[in-house]
Amino acid sequence: MDSILVRGGQPLNGEIPIAGAKNACLTLMPATLLSEEPLTLTNAPRLSDIATMSELLRSLGAEATAMQDGKVLALSSHNLSSQHADYDIVRKMRASILVLGPLLARFGQAEVSLPGGCAIGARPVDLHLKALEAMGAKLDLRDGYVHATAPQGLRGAQFRFAFASVGATENALMAATLAKGTTVLENAAREPEIVDLARCLRAMGAQIDGEGTSTITIEGVDRLGGATHRVVTDRIELGTYMLAPAITGGEVECLGGSMELVGAFAEKLHDAGIEISETKRGLKVARKNGRVNAVDVATEPFPGFPTDLQAQMMALLCTADGTSVLEEKIFENRFMHAPELMRMGADIDVSGGTATVTGVERLKGAPVMATDLRASVSLILAGLAAEGETVVSRVYHLDRGYEHVETKLSACGAQIERIAA
Ligand code: EPZ
Repeated sequence: MDSILVRGGQPLNGEIPIAGAKNACLTLMPATLLSEEPLTLTNAPRLSDIATMSELLRSLGAEATAMQDGKVLALSSHNLSSQHADYDIVRKMRASILVLGPLLARFGQAEVSLPGGCAIGARPVDLHLKALEAMGAKLDLRDGYVHATAPQGLRGAQFRFAFASVGATENALMAATLAKGTTVLENAAREPEIVDLARCLRAMGAQIDGEGTSTITIEGVDRLGGATHRVVTDRIELGTYMLAPAITGGEVECLGGSMELVGAFAEKLHDAGIEISETKRGLKVARKNGRVNAVDVATEPFPGFPTDLQAQMMALLCTADGTSVLEEKIFENRFMHAPELMRMGADIDVSGGTATVTGVERLKGAPVMATDLRASVSLILAGLAAEGETVVSRVYHLDRGYEHVETKLSACGAQIERIAA
């Protein structure tokens, strides 16, 4: 297993290109199952999670070909041969559950392994299943699989999510495009990745209104066509790299970034004393002098502060002037980066879903271990600011969600390299 070595202390200056959104791409790819026509995705990120989704689609008999160094994905489910999504693939990546709605909508049947939990929580899919049942699906949970049928096809329904679940909204949205009649999804998630999915589905011929708000209305159609769609910029990668000059000092332009993708996060960075300005090419982020201010953070569904940036923000606040309180309100176990940051000298007290961080003058480099995707990159950010060397092990977590992180950071002056195991 590879590790990443960081020698801290250099302010970062330069520019970082931001890739297409992993969490948009992972729901756009299963959308190919809704149509016989080809779906082409451009600006796709080169990540192991994307390769896993391609593997899953191919296991169903779909075509999934990466072109132009992986930035273009050519997808087609014209010759689909199976509606069985096997545990062996699904257990590697929970987003695999997003093939359930499309398979059910197009073929009237699906057999998809339950994804199981992960490091950050139990990650149930009950809201996905309830929404599909409301549309007439018959679901039988046995042997660790969802056996789903809709012999007469899905029908439009009025459904209110108990929680604004991103994945459940995506599954229901895709299924509703081919349901007979009108579907109204209430308390739907509002993330930019859902807006991006709706835009792609509309390009395929779907009739959708209200994406990005809490109520999405879908008029089912008989069939969908093909499309070519550009994957939206990754707001979590953007926020992560905005933190690089914030934690080290310096000035970095994040190419492709925009304020609309990072609203609540950017506000918190501004409150912490970081300068953010929009440029023709993206967002410029600078911290010229002094320590950052302590700020309190609570994670919420979009447009609130993203849970996927909580770990990275904690790394910054470990060096802030004062005490910050971070509340993780989306997942039940998303502070596993805290003990690793404490190995670097951070002063953090975790109690349930609340972490109280008292800033220290300087973190100290140390060997640390990545536990999940966003925790791994928060340790790298901490290493960039720490005195001495930090070695982050188990970076396979990192490669799931960040393209060439060492290349992008070293281009701005970071002393960072990958150590092959
Ligand atoms: C998506 O996961 C993202 N993953 C996550 O990003 C992100 O953290 C999350 O949304 C929240 O923004 C992808 O898009 C592939 P949820 P998802 O359904 O859809 C509970 C990353 O680092 N819940 O909004 O699984 C659930 O347990 C990953 O890129 C139910 O109880 O998130 C959690 O506590 C991590 N029942 C909360 O809702 C359900 O049926 C949010 O889950 C579904 C969810």
